[in-house]
Amino acid sequence: MRRLQPEDLLLVLGARPRTEVGGWLRDGLRDAVATGRLEAGATLPSSRSAAAGLGVSRGTVAAAVDELVGEGVLESRPRSSVVVADLDRPPRGTTARPARPGGGTDRPASVGAPDPALFPRAAWSRAVRDAMRGLPDAELGYPDPQGLLELRHALAAHLRTARAAPVEAEDVVIVSGVAQGLALLGDVLAGGGGGRRVVVEDPASPGVVAQLRDAGLEIVPVPVDDRGLRTDALPDAAAAVVTPAHQFPLGVVLAPDRRRELVAWAQDGDRLVLEDDYDAELRYDRQPVGALRGLAPAHVALLGSVSKLLSPALRLGWVVAPPGVRDALVDAKRRADLGCSVPEQAAFARLIADGAYARHLRRARLAYRRRRGLLLDALARDAPHLPVEGVAAGLHLVVRLPDAAAEATAVSALRAVDVPAEPLSGTSAHAGSWGVVVGAARVQGSAVPRVVEVLRSAAGGAGARG
Ligand SMILES: Cc1ncc(COP(=O)(O)O)c(C=O)c1O
Repeated sequence: MRRLQPEDLLLVLGARPRTEVGGWLRDGLRDAVATGRLEAGATLPSSRSAAAGLGVSRGTVAAAVDELVGEGVLESRPRSSVVVADLDRPPRGTTARPARPGGGTDRPASVGAPDPALFPRAAWSRAVRDAMRGLPDAELGYPDPQGLLELRHALAAHLRTARAAPVEAEDVVIVSGVAQGLALLGDVLAGGGGGRRVVVEDPASPGVVAQLRDAGLEIVPVPVDDRGLRTDALPDAAAAVVTPAHQFPLGVVLAPDRRRELVAWAQDGDRLVLEDDYDAELRYDRQPVGALRGLAPAHVALLGSVSKLLSPALRLGWVVAPPGVRDALVDAKRRADLGCSVPEQAAFARLIADGAYARHLRRARLAYRRRRGLLLDALARDAPHLPVEGVAAGLHLVVRLPDAAAEATAVSALRAVDVPAEPLSGTSAHAGSWGVVVGAARVQGSAVPRVVEVLRSAAGGAGARG
C-alpha cells in the first residue's frame, strides 16, 4: 500500500496557518480521510519527517495523530507506523457477520437503519462484560421504570454537550426507542378521555403517525416547506410532534424564527412539543442545531434513541421529559412493561462513560458523510436533473420523481438490489408529491452506480411516458 510523503499531506492540507497549527493538521487530515483524498491503507510518513515537511513540531504531529487514532480515523500498526483507516470496514477488533450460518434475516432494513457492519461489537462486548462485573446484586431485581440512574446520569451529560440542551438525570426516562416514547406520551396526552388532537408534520414517518393514532389521538397534518414546519398554519391542538434538527423525510432544518413560533405556540396554550431527535447527531457539514428543548424545557419533551447511532436492535432510547409530564410518563412505562433491561442499560452507560460511544459516533459520522458525498457526487454527475433534498445529515435521502409510476418503479427497483426504499407519497396525507426515500447508510462501492442508474432510468421512463 502507498507510503505517503510529507508533500502528499501538504497537498491535502493546504497552506499552513500562522496559529492553531494543531487544529489545522488534525481537522485537515480528518477531512481528507472522510472525503477519500487520503486513501484507506496508505501509510503516513514518520512523525519526524512529517514535522520537518510541514514545518510543525513533532509534538504537534504526535498529538494530532493520537487524537485521530482515538477517533478511528487513523490506525497505529506495529513498528510505530500509522495508516489511514478504512471507514467502510468495521472498527479493528470487530468482525462483521454479514449473514447468519443458517441464512440471513429476510426482514428488509428500514430506510433509516444504520450499517450493521459498523456496529462497534468489540467495544459493546467489553461494555457488557464490565457492566455485569460492576452491577450490584440489588440492581438485578425489577428495574426502576424511569431507568437505571447510572445511565440517566451518563446520558444527561452526553446530551448537554451533544444537543446543547439542559438535561439532568432526573429529567430522563429510559424507554425502548423513540417509538415507545411517542406511544407512551401519546397515552399520557390521550389520558382522561381520548380524542385529543396532535399536530404532525406533513410529510412524516408513517410509523410515527401510526403510533400516535394507536394511542387514541386525532392526527392534524401541517405542511412542511423548505424551512420546516409551517408554523403560521398551526391549529389548536394539545401537542405537536416535530423533527426540527433534520425533518423526516425531507431533511430540512426548522428555521430559527419558526423554532421560536412553535415554542411560543406551546407556551401560550400550555401545549407540549414532542421533539423527535431521531438522527440529530448525524450532521456532517457542521454541528447540529441545538435541541428545541433548550428554548422551553417546561414545554418540550426531547426523544432520542440509539437506533441510528448504534443499532435499532438494542431497542434503547430516552425521553427528556418536562416536569409536568414526567411522573405520568414513568407511570405509563411501568404499566407498559415494568422498565427496560438493566444489563443493557448498564452496558450503554459504560459505553458512554468510557468514551467508546463518542469515539464510535465520530467514526460513524465520518463513514456516513463519506458515503453520502460519493452518492451525491455520482448523482450530480450522472443524473444532474434529479433533485436531491435536505441538508448534509442522516442516513436517508429524498429524490423527487415526476409521477406515481416513476415512484413505484424506483421503489421496487431499489428494493430488488437490496437498498431500502419507501415511496415519498406514502409519507404524506396529501396526494401529488412523488419521490423516493432512499436508505443510504449501506450504499457504497458498486451499489453507488446501481442506485444512480435505477433513479435515472425511473425518472427518464417518466419523461418518455410524459
Ligand atoms: C423519524 C423517526 N422517528 C422515530 C423513529 C423510531 O425510532 P426508534 O427505533 O428509536 O423507535 C424512526 C425510525 O426509523 C424514525 O425514522
